[in-house]
Amino acid sequence: MIAIGSDHGGYKLKEYLKNRLTERGLQLKDYGVYSEESADYPDCAKPVCEAVLSGECERGILVCGTGIGISIAANKFKGIRAALCSDVFSAKMAREHNDANIICLGGRVTGEELAGMIVETYLEASFLGGRHAARVAKIHEIENF
Ligand code: RB5
Repeated sequence: MIAIGSDHGGYKLKEYLKNRLTERGLQLKDYGVYSEESADYPDCAKPVCEAVLSGECERGILVCGTGIGISIAANKFKGIRAALCSDVFSAKMAREHNDANIICLGGRVTGEELAGMIVETYLEASFLGGRHAARVAKIHEIENF
C-alpha cells in the first residue's frame, strides 16, 4: 500500500498520479487534500508520514506546489526520509542510496508525464544496503542527538 497526499498546490498532480498508479495495479491510500481549497502543507504531510511510520503503508508520495515545503515538513518526522525529486535519476538514487520512504514532487514544477516516470522509477527501485545502510543509520543518529 502506498500513501499519497498533497496540499492545494499539489492536488492536481496528486490526482493524476493516483489515477495513473491505480491503473497500473498499485494500491494507494489517499490522505487528501480532496480539492484545490487552500491547505497548509505541514498538515498535509502529517497523515502520510504517520501511515508510513506505522507500517500501514510501505511508502509515501507527497506533492505541494514546489515540493519544498512538504518535504521539509515530512523530514521533521523521526524515521522519515523524504526526497524531493524532479528527475528520474534522483528518484532511483533516492531509493537505492538513501532508502527514501517518501518521494516528494512539485505540482507547479514537474509536468504530469515526467512526474509519473519519476514516481514509477522510485517505486520500482530497491535499497542497495551495504555502505549506504551505514550512511542512512548515521542520519538517524543525528535524529537522536
Ligand atoms: C502554496 O501556495 C505553496 O506555498 C505550497 O504548495 C508549496 O509550494 C510550499 O512549499
